[in-house]
Amino acid sequence: MELYVDTANIEHIRHAAMLGCVSGVTTNPSLLAKEDPSVDVKQRILEIHELIGGHLSVEVVSTVTKGMLKEAEDIISWFPEATIKIPIIPDGLAAVKELSKKGIPTNVTLVFSPTQAIAAANAGATYVSVFMGRLDDIAISSNDVLNDICEIWEVQDYESKIIAASIRHPMHIIEAAKAGADIATVPYKVLMQSLKSPLTDSGLEQFLSDYDKMQTERQKILNI
Ligand code: G3P
Repeated sequence: MELYVDTANIEHIRHAAMLGCVSGVTTNPSLLAKEDPSVDVKQRILEIHELIGGHLSVEVVSTVTKGMLKEAEDIISWFPEATIKIPIIPDGLAAVKELSKKGIPTNVTLVFSPTQAIAAANAGATYVSVFMGRLDDIAISSNDVLNDICEIWEVQDYESKIIAASIRHPMHIIEAAKAGADIATVPYKVLMQSLKSPLTDSGLEQFLSDYDKMQTERQKILNI
């Protein structure tokens, strides 16, 4: 399972890109709205693209097919490798169909059920983003929904890649990997949490202190 970072924050993306374990970035209008509003969206997206050099999903804000297609055209003119993120609404599905005919990659977002995922796959979505945290927020098990979708993908041999999104904690990453999601897109804070273990910290401290002791002993023995 690949890891993407789910943010529009330049410093976080710069650091995540350096880590070597992140191969893409997903953004959405809310994530863009968290950042400095004086920076133009196109400029921010291009900066993110340059930093990550891999997958980058950029979401449309129109809710009608024609508007979505126009926005997709604009985004592609900024950088041709863009993946166009489109909500799973009827107009969105129609836009996905059109873009897929032209070979433009799409990421169908705000997916909360297997039936929505199936519709997105049939419309030709390249990626389908299943929102885990928001399902758990309303007491629907995101683990069950994701497992159902992954099972259907296996049986039906759908080509769209499954992105586990709305990840809130490291357990979601583990559940997504076990279910068979292709990608987990993770907020920066959760990504950093997922790398940490108190045993790593204490283990490293012990290694370094043992090495120091050995060097001190050696200096004593050799009189240096
Ligand atoms: O990838 C989708 C994500 O940005 C939504 O996350 O935490 O707002 O549900 P959240």
